[in-house]
Amino acid sequence: MSDLSIVTYGSKVLRKRAENVKTVTPALKRLADDMLEAMYAAEGVGLAAPQVGESVRLFVVDVSRDEKKRSPLVFFNPEIIASRGKSTAEEGCLSIPDVWAEVTRPEVITVRALDREGKPFVIENADELLARCIQHEYDHLEGVLFTDKISATDRLLNDSRLKKLTKLSRAL
Ligand code: NI
Repeated sequence: MSDLSIVTYGSKVLRKRAENVKTVTPALKRLADDMLEAMYAAEGVGLAAPQVGESVRLFVVDVSRDEKKRSPLVFFNPEIIASRGKSTAEEGCLSIPDVWAEVTRPEVITVRALDREGKPFVIENADELLARCIQHEYDHLEGVLFTDKISATDRLLNDSRLKKLTKLSRAL
């Protein structure tokens, strides 16, 4: 088990713009590995470093949702270099438990990043859940949460839940 814990809505680190990674050090590789472990343990499909209290430009993703055939992806210093189309689907976030709402985002994206070994890679024309997940995690590095992008109606519906989470996070 990794000993990382996932911070929740209301935590200041979730609202900070995360710092660029200069070198992918062994400590950062370990952080990526621990984040994957924490993500799998929480049954998530993505996790960004600010969600474990580390304000660095790193997130991990695995949209395979298959325990036997995992396909973990590690992104350091990701950049979304192209996007097109529009798609709407329900999202949730490990830092915002029990809140689900529809978010509209570009449908197809091209992303560039450094992998776990610090080697540059590009994913061209990612779509469906992978595109959505990468954009959601990318937002975390900018201090943006999916609840910033939901409809006024959904915001109202989830308002008391979000207030409660904020209170709980301040109590920590
Ligand atoms: Ni999230």
